[in-house]
Amino acid sequence: MAQTLNRTRVIIASILMCLVHFPVNTTCETEQRSALYGQIESPDYPEPYGNNVDRVWNITVPDGFTIVLYFSLFELEASLDCAYDNVKVSSSEETATFCGNGQFLEFRTPRDRNMTSPNNNMVVEFHSDYSNEEQFSGFVAHYQARDINECLVNNGGCEQVCHNFVSGYYCSCRLYYQLQPDNHHCKVSCRDIVYTSEQDEFQTPDYPDDYPPNADCNWLINVDFGYSINIVFETFQIESHPTVLCPYDFVKIYYDNEVRGPICGDSQSDLPASFSTSGNIANVTFHSDQSVQRMGFRARYDVTGRSCGALYRPTYGMISGSNFTFRDSVRFSCNDGYVINGSTSRSCQANGTWSGIQPTCEIVKCNVPQPISNGEILYYSGMNFSYSNSIRFVCNDYYEMEGISWSECGVNGTWTPEPPVCVPICGESSISPRNPQPGRIVGGQESTPGSWPWQVLINIKAPGFGGLRNTICGGSVLNEEWILTAAHCVTGTEVSLTTYGKVVPNHTVVVSLGIHTRNSPAEHTVVRSALEIIKHAEFDHVTLDYDVALIHLNESIQFNDVIRPICLPPQSTHIEQGDDKHVYIPNVADTDTTAVVIGWGQIQKGRSTSNVLLEVYVGVNVPRNLCNMKLNDPVTTNMVCAGSTEGGLDSCGGDSGGPLMLRDDVTNRYFTYGIVSWGEGCARPDKFGVYVRIENFVDWIQYETFVER
Ligand SMILES: *[C@@H]1O[C@H](CO)[C@@H](O)[C@H](O)[C@H]1NC(C)=O
Ligand SMILES: *[C@@H]1O[C@H](CO)[C@@H](O)[C@H](O)[C@H]1NC(C)=O
Ligand SMILES: *[C@@H]1O[C@H](CO)[C@@H](O)[C@H](O)[C@H]1NC(C)=O
Ligand SMILES: *[C@@H]1O[C@H](CO)[C@@H](O)[C@H](O)[C@H]1NC(C)=O
Ligand SMILES: *[C@@H]1O[C@H](CO)[C@@H](O)[C@H](O)[C@H]1NC(C)=O
Ligand SMILES: *[C@@H]1O[C@H](CO)[C@@H](O)[C@H](O)[C@H]1NC(C)=O
Ligand SMILES: *[C@@H]1O[C@H](CO)[C@@H](O)[C@H](O)[C@H]1NC(C)=O
Ligand SMILES: *[C@@H]1O[C@H](CO)[C@@H](O)[C@H](O)[C@H]1NC(C)=O
Ligand SMILES: *[C@@H]1O[C@H](CO)[C@@H](O)[C@H](O)[C@H]1NC(C)=O
Repeated sequence: MAQTLNRTRVIIASILMCLVHFPVNTTCETEQRSALYGQIESPDYPEPYGNNVDRVWNITVPDGFTIVLYFSLFELEASLDCAYDNVKVSSSEETATFCGNGQFLEFRTPRDRNMTSPNNNMVVEFHSDYSNEEQFSGFVAHYQARDINECLVNNGGCEQVCHNFVSGYYCSCRLYYQLQPDNHHCKVSCRDIVYTSEQDEFQTPDYPDDYPPNADCNWLINVDFGYSINIVFETFQIESHPTVLCPYDFVKIYYDNEVRGPICGDSQSDLPASFSTSGNIANVTFHSDQSVQRMGFRARYDVTGRSCGALYRPTYGMISGSNFTFRDSVRFSCNDGYVINGSTSRSCQANGTWSGIQPTCEIVKCNVPQPISNGEILYYSGMNFSYSNSIRFVCNDYYEMEGISWSECGVNGTWTPEPPVCVPICGESSISPRNPQPGRIVGGQESTPGSWPWQVLINIKAPGFGGLRNTICGGSVLNEEWILTAAHCVTGTEVSLTTYGKVVPNHTVVVSLGIHTRNSPAEHTVVRSALEIIKHAEFDHVTLDYDVALIHLNESIQFNDVIRPICLPPQSTHIEQGDDKHVYIPNVADTDTTAVVIGWGQIQKGRSTSNVLLEVYVGVNVPRNLCNMKLNDPVTTNMVCAGSTEGGLDSCGGDSGGPLMLRDDVTNRYFTYGIVSWGEGCARPDKFGVYVRIENFVDWIQYETFVER
């Protein structure tokens, strides 16, 4: 009643209080609060509140939250029924009124309690009347929004499962139930539940609790074509009838155009038998009527692939994989030396057949071996060129093998190792030369016929005064096609003619091989002409530097006992002597190093040439300095000297182009150490014969004679 009486006063006071902000209003505007938490204080706090003050706080938080309010300080004038000063907290329909300060227990203060609103709104009102005998501090209150757990009350109205979340909640249904449009109710829903995996399990709704009434469920197992399904019931309790076959609730299974069931019953010891389909589809159905519910069943299934039948390894091969049902695959491979013909892998298909075709392992075949030049192939295993068969190579007479003498047909169908090549044996005579003993060409002796099978006679009909002038030269066989000789032999020498210094025409050159006696060639003597003449580009016909030339024969030659090639100097056998390089001849004492020079040249300077091939042994260990001292013309680094200070042994006119030979003590083969080039007279004392230093021309010779042209 006091409140009512005071009403006019309150309104007047409010007008006074609120004039600052709301001069036209008769009451204070409410202070709206919408944050999720905050603090409210009595007017003028921390000063004591004044008289005739009214304040309102309207706290609103989002839906789904409640508001918790807590006073940390509360000191108001105490009065009966809180009639004078008070704080009212209201929410929804409820209001609580507080006053006092804790001194008088009969007055209600809100200290030490949390007030929770039933909804998202809370209004706090403060009122003080016209007079206070004492001064009071007022209050401090804190509020915060708190989520409402709607599920706590009546399960949120959800029929099955209620889920609370901040500011709300939702309902859901158990397996095989479906939420209804009202979002709260659930209805059994277990039709056409499809399984496609290779194994799984399924059960009646609510298992192991009782299944619902009036349910019609079906589980459709639909696995890949090629699998069959094995179904096992692990538990089974379905309402049955003592005399009538499953009149109420039952299971029926449709598969392979058959129906199994109706099945019912509830004996744990008498489960329905496991069974397997032959197809890849099974439809397990369940029906319950409106009364009597039981636990239901739980079942699982797995699949078995269709069998494709066993596969075996091919002969000479291997198989990997030993499972022969649907989706399995096997791989085939062949042993080394065999190749697969057919599928390298096969897989078991859905319809029980294998993909691909069964492979076989075929032996690897090599090509028919290519014939080798100057040699033959021996076929050990007949003409069988399959894997692991081998062939052998032999070289013809006068040839030797470089490489391996056999080849095998390898796993890749290639002959391995590579076939060898047959190269001419150089520097070996079929007929032994005479024992090396001093003699003479000038001071030489007749050679044993055929003992220098590389020696050739070169006849040159070069133009000179009064027609063609016939000169002879020597040369030596390098291989089937090439002759080594001196450049000056194949160069025009007639100073007055235009051919001077030029290579003589090919047709003026005749080469005789296998010849000993010049004026009566033997039956085996072979005659060739020049196809091409290569003179060293730096040949100087005045100083005879670079006096080396090659003759390419018009037709290649066949080696025999009296026609064979000479070797070129072995390239690794050099020693330094003074400032000079010399070929090192093993086991030959320096001063005695002797070489053989051969030719049909003059027996003595100015005399006629020899009819038979002569040989002479000359010392070759002549330092170039010494030789240069003794000779008038310069001896270049492309020259070597041979002979002796005593004189008497030398080559002479007509010997030019022929070889100065050394014998390699390791191989016992003769090689060209020099080519007869020039001298001052023949075999004069204190004069040496001068020869081309072939060592310097090995690369040139090889380049010119082996390069493809
Ligand atoms: C509080 O605020 C809400 C929302 O702003 C409003 O609906 C309600 O009427 C207010 N209550 C009072 C008592 O002012
Ligand atoms: C009030 O709520 C706060 C926070 O939720 C809590 O710490 C406090 O203990 C509560 N007080 C009472 C009296 O329940
Ligand atoms: C499985 O059986 C149920 C009940 O007979 C039927 O309604 C459904 O169509 C069947 N499903 C298939 C895929 O056969
Ligand atoms: C093959 O069959 C064996 C035994 O039946 C099984 O252990 C293995 O896992 C199978 N392998 C594959 C690849 O299916
Ligand atoms: C591969 O097998 C097929 C069929 O068996 C056969 O006709 C063919 O000749 C075989 N090929 C070889 C290279 O062996
Ligand atoms: C089995 O299936 C494969 C692949 O689909 C097919 O090519 C083959 O013709 C089928 N065989 C039979 C006997 O059906
Ligand atoms: C060829 O040789 C291979 C391997 O040695 C052997 O397996 C095969 O039977 C032989 N073939 C003939 C026709 O001899
Ligand atoms: C066979 O051929 C393969 C691939 O070309 C190669 O890697 C292998 O070394 C060869 N084997 C032999 C023995 O040549
Ligand atoms: C090569 O030359 C010789 C001698 O001139 C001659 O007998 C022979 O027929 C020639 N060979 C060829 C293939 O021209």
